[in-house]
Amino acid sequence: MQNTTNLPSIGFGTYPIPEGEAIINATTWAIETGFRLIDTANSYDNEVGIGIAIKNCIENGIVTRDELFVTSKVPDWKQGYDSTIKCCKESLKKSGLDYFDLYLIHSPYRQNENWQKSVIDTYRALETLYREGLVKRIGVSNFGLKHLEFLLSEAQIKPEFNQLELHPQHQQREVVKYCQEHNIGLIGWGTLNQGRIYKNHIIQELAAKYGVTPADIAIKWSLQKGYIPLVGSKNKKHIEENYHSYVITMVISAADISLLDSLDGGEFSNGHHEGIQPIKMVPANSIIKEYNPATYTRIYKLFGLLPILKEKKLHWNKTKWFIFGIPVLKIIKKDY
Ligand SMILES: NC(=O)c1ccc[n+]([C@@H]2O[C@H](COP(=O)([O-])OP(=O)(O)OC[C@H]3O[C@@H](n4cnc5c(N)ncnc54)[C@H](OP(=O)(O)O)[C@@H]3O)[C@@H](O)[C@H]2O)c1
Repeated sequence: MQNTTNLPSIGFGTYPIPEGEAIINATTWAIETGFRLIDTANSYDNEVGIGIAIKNCIENGIVTRDELFVTSKVPDWKQGYDSTIKCCKESLKKSGLDYFDLYLIHSPYRQNENWQKSVIDTYRALETLYREGLVKRIGVSNFGLKHLEFLLSEAQIKPEFNQLELHPQHQQREVVKYCQEHNIGLIGWGTLNQGRIYKNHIIQELAAKYGVTPADIAIKWSLQKGYIPLVGSKNKKHIEENYHSYVITMVISAADISLLDSLDGGEFSNGHHEGIQPIKMVPANSIIKEYNPATYTRIYKLFGLLPILKEKKLHWNKTKWFIFGIPVLKIIKKDY
């Protein structure tokens, strides 16, 4: 049975924020703003700064250790029983923490032909760390169906979570269904599709319809699906906006959730998958006519220098003029 005690509903992602001032500031802002789940990994190389930020926030009375939920992960190249124990202990030492709230196998080591042995040796180490109290929960990340089926047949302690790339353009429905059927919690990474959501016109149009930002739409989609979305940012304003997305009461209607669901198969990070998948174009019939913004303001730039034209009525959204291959008229801004 999944332990839901002290389980935050949204998490702060710390990749690829580098060690030092950047990660100390970002983590501090995240905790001050309200984030309680901090997601890191041995491979992110920022555990020292995260530890400093956590220590400062505790000392300043902003939060207690019990209120925080810190996740770390063992990377592929440290898989194996002894090396995983060592890796976790090193990460704890670097971050100055006594325990991690969740410890994950970062990925099933797809490049390794003998991944089953590597995964089970690593998982045995996670079980030991759990029994010793160095980690409060254990789980996996980027595990597909075959990896989970294998793991569940071998595990002595069931994995509590699978952390996966999850957003409207990459929904991994088969593995999500499997996790839900087996009571394995889902933590979503790439909630904003690493910024790609801002280029998607359906997400833009839904944001306009609800009077919110594209980030609000993506974060709410994830929350309404029952996932724990991770959102990464090194920018204070974005961190505050993202937490606000969690707090606002806006609910996406079932019809609009279906519309977002129709984006599945779009462009995605492709960071941890079995193979490269084709990018599906957004189907033309899924354009929401009623939100077609009549308020476009497009600023055009001639030779990259002169803002000469503001056009509110003409829809020249595919216009790019070229002379001998040189673009002379280029869209530089599109305001909705
Ligand atoms: N398990 C895994 O294999 C795995 C893989 C990747 C990531 N993760 C975890 O998941 C977390 C989230 O995933 P992610 O960082 O890959 O992708 P993400 O959260 O979808 O996107 C992060 C990007 O969005 C930008 N951003 C964030 N908030 C914004 C806002 N309100 N407005 C505009 N831009 C905004 C950030 O830039 P700024 O910094 O400029 O705000 C950053 O470039 C990571 O930080 C990491 O902890 C896990």
